[in-house]
Amino acid sequence: MEQLLALEMVRVTEAAAIDSARFMGRGEKDEADAAATEAMRRTMQEIDFDGRIVIGEGERDEAPMLYIGERVGRSSAGRQDVPVIDIAVDPLEGTNLVAHGQAGAITVLAASEAGGLTHAPDTYMEKLCVGPVVAGKVDIRESPTENLGRIAEALGRKVSDITVVILDRPRHEALIAEVRAAGARIKLIGDGDLSAAISCAVSGTGVHAVMGIGGAPEGVITAAALRCLGGEIQARFRYRNPEEHERGARMGHGDEDRVYHTEDLAPGENLVFAATGVTAGDLLSGVRFFGGGARTHSLVMAYQMKQVRFVDTVHMFDRDSPPRVRL
Ligand code: FBP
Repeated sequence: MEQLLALEMVRVTEAAAIDSARFMGRGEKDEADAAATEAMRRTMQEIDFDGRIVIGEGERDEAPMLYIGERVGRSSAGRQDVPVIDIAVDPLEGTNLVAHGQAGAITVLAASEAGGLTHAPDTYMEKLCVGPVVAGKVDIRESPTENLGRIAEALGRKVSDITVVILDRPRHEALIAEVRAAGARIKLIGDGDLSAAISCAVSGTGVHAVMGIGGAPEGVITAAALRCLGGEIQARFRYRNPEEHERGARMGHGDEDRVYHTEDLAPGENLVFAATGVTAGDLLSGVRFFGGGARTHSLVMAYQMKQVRFVDTVHMFDRDSPPRVRL
């Protein structure tokens, strides 16, 4: 079931990537996001499952579709013979990146049996993400300097050979200064700490860790991906004001000192993860259009299957004059 679902779910992220990639460089970030969201929902309605959005585009009153609590899937009417799943989506991670034609935008979702993905409020999280070799050896409660030493030791490198991805935000001024002082290299990104976190669990991307504060929903989806890849995320909720804190507390996340580990954020045993590149990045190629079709590059994983698939798909838009498929 999990494997079949994984292959179906990649159709969802592929469709979202193709539709949002049309907006590359057009300066229309909301339109790009809406295109991805609509394509995701439309494609989900073609697949047999009884799904509930647990992380989506917002609360019911603020998002027209893929809102938290929305039922999706062809069998959402309540058939008994289809999987009942929870779904976390980020229809387009990197809306600004697409709007400006910059690297690193992806469409992404995670699914699991009911209850397998933490319900996180749309707030922030302080995150520390590492790959499989470093998993279990870092501690977010320690300083960035200490963790950089541990990462370097685990990887058998010098700190100066470690690259950390950090979102380029004023709130990270002190973090950036400390990482620089420790001697590590930094890749400052405009958006996309989820995509960066996956990269640090994939050898050859040149990314060894992600540090700093980013979106909490992205943190949950990151956890699903890192469980499949054997990497690790440690996170603490970070609220900007008392209202946000109150909302987080109502969901059981009031303690800002609590460290959430990968399994806390994505405890599911039947996790499925799919992501497709929209603009080219460290991990995935972007959507390439050509006469009559498009080519997409995706990452699909199913936790139980212990498989990581990179899927390279040629989409033929027009059967009457199909594109020539190239290697
Ligand atoms: P979008 O989904 O709007 O494209 O933003 C993605 C993102 O950059 C995430 O990768 C990150 O976790 C979060 O936004 C950071 O939020 P902020 O832009 O408010 O610092």
